[in-house]
Amino acid sequence: MARAEGAWLYTSEGRKLLDACSGAIVVNVGQGRRELADLARDQIMELDYLLPVWVSPARQRLVQRLVQWTPSGLDRFFFTSGGSEAVESAIKFALLYHRVRGRAARTRVISRELSYHGNTLGALSASGNRTRRADFEHVLFDWPKIPPSYCYRCPWARRYPGCDLECAQALEEAIAQHGADRIAAFIAEPMVGASGGVIAPVSEYWPRIAKICRRHDIVLIADEVMTGFGRTGKRFAVEHWGVTPDILVGGKGLTGGYVPMGMIAVNNRMVQECEEAGADFMFFTYSAHPLACAIADRVLEIIEREKMVEHAAELGARLGACLEDAIGQHPMTGEIRGAGLFWGIELVADRGRRTPFPANLHAARTLLRHAMELGVVLYPASGMAGERGGDAIMIAPPFVISDAEVELIATTLRRAFDSTWQNLQHHA
Ligand SMILES: Cc1ncc(COP(=O)(O)O)c(C=O)c1O
Repeated sequence: MARAEGAWLYTSEGRKLLDACSGAIVVNVGQGRRELADLARDQIMELDYLLPVWVSPARQRLVQRLVQWTPSGLDRFFFTSGGSEAVESAIKFALLYHRVRGRAARTRVISRELSYHGNTLGALSASGNRTRRADFEHVLFDWPKIPPSYCYRCPWARRYPGCDLECAQALEEAIAQHGADRIAAFIAEPMVGASGGVIAPVSEYWPRIAKICRRHDIVLIADEVMTGFGRTGKRFAVEHWGVTPDILVGGKGLTGGYVPMGMIAVNNRMVQECEEAGADFMFFTYSAHPLACAIADRVLEIIEREKMVEHAAELGARLGACLEDAIGQHPMTGEIRGAGLFWGIELVADRGRRTPFPANLHAARTLLRHAMELGVVLYPASGMAGERGGDAIMIAPPFVISDAEVELIATTLRRAFDSTWQNLQHHA
């Protein structure tokens, strides 16, 4: 790829591809904005680096804006260079919080089976993604995992509504099994990203989870690295259910890919307790880097100015309808699911039985290749069928796409589904 503009990528041979997944669900405001390039030049000339214990004007502006964005009460921030560092920081903060309260035995983090929280050892320990863990299982922390809320493949074979929300109850059971006095935190993606292909929970799930965490004094961490900053048609996905976590983790869309940055927003009372106890929370060299702060502040301003969260909600509904029209009945379509501009399609070999494709066929990757040949870039997700594998694709375009481009994604997908289906039948 040689260059990019808006939602389009251009190869060095002059081909034009529609980026229907915003890179790794990152480029929310689209690429190539001159305003951000000018700002970057000015910021570098004004203040290029600052020891993270000091405050730059750019950081001050960003914090003031973030306070307006994050759920009320989450108004203390720590900045990192990306999502993994931010998850790592969230986990470390939860451990620290319990330690200053004299509960150093709370060292475990409960998380979910279909999840990805990052590439560092702590974040990977919390991740359930089998493939990404595989080569490091021997060194990862042995932390408890529960299944996510995932009706299409409910492990309890229940049907919603009418079930007992066994998926949320699983947290209560894991806490009972391991002992609340040994659990520091519960971390989950509000909607599963690349480990599931956009799996939204049932609406009572997050409120129930929050209640369980409160009851046992377990720190609730919402990993919004993928879902945050407008992606699901709300500023943060937890707003869909009116839930306020203790810590919210952000990255990706925070700077829209213009510079690397991640963050955590933390409950003020919890930070104060740690401060009063004189606890130290070491910074990263590039924490609150002035350039990253300046860009993040302006990216959020652009989202506000161009009403992109509302736009993501409206256009996303249209995208969902177009996908349903184009491939809702396709023999390879298991389920189409999503919110805002965050959509996933689970691929199956047999719709009726919901049978995943054999893993060795690499169905998602084959589909990606076919779509790419037709000019549309998608993101793969895999592993949602557990031992049996599972394939899905993610469609999460930049918020700047037009109605015509939404239709182009759907019609191209239809063609890519047809050719992939034929190809897979041939190899099955
Ligand atoms: C939900 C979630 N958390 C954390 C991460 C890790 O972020 P990064 O790759 O920026 O370190 C990712 C990356 O895809 C993610 O999707």
